[in-house]
Amino acid sequence: MARTKTQHVAGRTPAETRAEMVQVVLPNDANPLGNILGGTVMHLIDIAGAIAAHRHARSYVVTASVDNVDFTRPIRVGQVIMLRSEVTRAFHTSMEVEVKVYLEDYVRGERCLTSSAFVTYVAVDSDLTPIPVPPVIVRTAEEKRRYREALGRRKRRLAFAAQSRLRCEEEK
Ligand SMILES: CC(C)(COP(=O)(O)OP(=O)(O)OC[C@H]1O[C@@H](n2cnc3c(N)ncnc32)[C@H](O)[C@@H]1OP(=O)(O)O)[C@@H](O)C(=O)NCCC(=O)NCCS
Repeated sequence: MARTKTQHVAGRTPAETRAEMVQVVLPNDANPLGNILGGTVMHLIDIAGAIAAHRHARSYVVTASVDNVDFTRPIRVGQVIMLRSEVTRAFHTSMEVEVKVYLEDYVRGERCLTSSAFVTYVAVDSDLTPIPVPPVIVRTAEEKRRYREALGRRKRRLAFAAQSRLRCEEEK
């Protein structure tokens, strides 16, 4: 049964939240040129990110925000898309997850990064009320860097969200 309350734990490491998704790009995922649709990549980013957030919070989560996503290389029908996600930092009820997207060339045995995004999820109970999440325990230099930088990213996205809310109010 799905949990609706976060467990009382000291915290979880990013590695404990890590998720990996791999799939072959099929014609239904692609535009007429045979490249995966940007919207399909964003859909997969949201799913891969949510899995990491679920692993951290052990609760329901909703997507609150997605930072900008760039598509630096096309991924073509028949190629493999791989996504890796992990929680970088938890705040009170929200978590920042980094999702990286790779094109995997299985003939050459090579992988290259094609997109990356920071996605914020909020842990909620079954009434959609935000609930607290455990902290993230960082150990490696890379984890500590991402943790530190997450605060600046949060400030920027909350300032942007406040402006969006104002616009919504004005257009009512
Ligand atoms: C996300 C949501 C639950 C926040 O609800 P809220 O009433 O604003 O709740 P709060 O003000 O208490 O904020 C809860 C947390 O969300 C964070 N948050 C809210 N809006 C955010 C945004 N745009 N970006 C990043 N974090 C955001 C807050 O900072 C807070 O985090 P913290 O507890 O770690 O400090 C609510 O806006 C919602 O349900 N949105 C729709 C989610 C959804 O349906 N997503 C799918 C796509 S439509």
